[in-house]
Amino acid sequence: MKRKKVIIAPSILSADFACLGKDIRCVERAGCDWIHVDVMDGHFVPNITIGPVVVKGVRKVTSLPLDVHLMISDPGNYIESFVKAGSDIITVHYEACRNLEKLRRQIRKYGVKAGVSLKPKTKLTKKVLADIARFDLVLIMTVEPGFGGQSFMHDVVPKIGALRSKYKGLISVDGGVSDKTVGIVKKAGVDVIVAGSYLFGARDMKKRMALLRK
Ligand code: DX5
Ligand code: ZN
Repeated sequence: MKRKKVIIAPSILSADFACLGKDIRCVERAGCDWIHVDVMDGHFVPNITIGPVVVKGVRKVTSLPLDVHLMISDPGNYIESFVKAGSDIITVHYEACRNLEKLRRQIRKYGVKAGVSLKPKTKLTKKVLADIARFDLVLIMTVEPGFGGQSFMHDVVPKIGALRSKYKGLISVDGGVSDKTVGIVKKAGVDVIVAGSYLFGARDMKKRMALLRK
């Protein structure tokens, strides 16, 4: 059977924000599939990054799907702004949500795909599995959320495999993915690979993109 093509989503967190449009065109030309946008609030995670205004700007320079990863507290308060800014997929954190199903419906109401992300220490219990089952995408963090350029946490890999055997939607992996770790996550069954520093830190982006696809 032919293996399905993996989706590559460069995280712009590692781009040069002084010339973001140019950097996005670069990854686009190198053949990526989505653009991953890391939103941090300095509360849910110990870092502050970007908000809807930047998403709106990014929307102007690319027609690729915008995969917006909200690492923020009370995400429900900001869904509408991120939809209006042009998001195609909105992912909230399991650990930041009190009523996950309500949030999923809130996102889907706008015709946007709904994702949910699990931090490395969040276990795939029966309750968690039931709570995330109806989401379009589950994003597994393989670093503690907050910063680009961290090392891949190998102990999270069994969680990806366990999820694959029980979940039919898209599985995305985020954090520390490079040519050294991509084989492991593909084998575990991921559909989407988020990569920040590995792609934006490259002199030859096309080559690195090919190494991730291989
Ligand atoms: C971390 C972010 C990631 C990060 C990935 O909190 O969610 O998207 O930017 O960066 P690398 O690939 O450098 O680990
Ligand atoms: Zn991310």
